[in-house]
Amino acid sequence: MALRQIRIQGDPVLEKVCKEINEVTPRVQELIDDMIETMYAANGVGLAAPQVGILKRLVVIDVTGDNPYVIINPKLLEADGEQTGYEGCLSLPGKSGIVTRPNHVKIVYQDENMETQELEGTELLARAIIHEMEHLDGHMYTEKVEGDLVNNDELMAADTDDDEE
Ligand code: NI
Repeated sequence: MALRQIRIQGDPVLEKVCKEINEVTPRVQELIDDMIETMYAANGVGLAAPQVGILKRLVVIDVTGDNPYVIINPKLLEADGEQTGYEGCLSLPGKSGIVTRPNHVKIVYQDENMETQELEGTELLARAIIHEMEHLDGHMYTEKVEGDLVNNDELMAADTDDDEE
């Protein structure tokens, strides 16, 4: 496994629509392993393949720190409720902004064995799922920020969530 370089906002690769994965080849498996390692090394709760320069519909998410989801070709089945809170992104390090998201989502996707799975999430997991899925269509959370971006070190005193995705 190896760490991959995380692309920063402004890199054109972050604005492209990713392609579906038909097969988990050894090369895709290596990408999955590297993305998980890169996410943990960066203290993130999610990472999408375009953030490491690969235009494939693949994300990894772990909001608990010990249970990474490998999500291939995700499709949204349900989204309801509402949550408003700070959100960040590993492609925009050190910054956060307020974004309103659904409080509950349900997706269907393929796991790393290409078996179809469903995943439901609320709160941070729901936020992470939607955030990462938007990366696969070339979108960043900054398009939806309410108000100004803030520096994470200014947020520390405010007891807020500074997870980066
Ligand atoms: Ni992100």
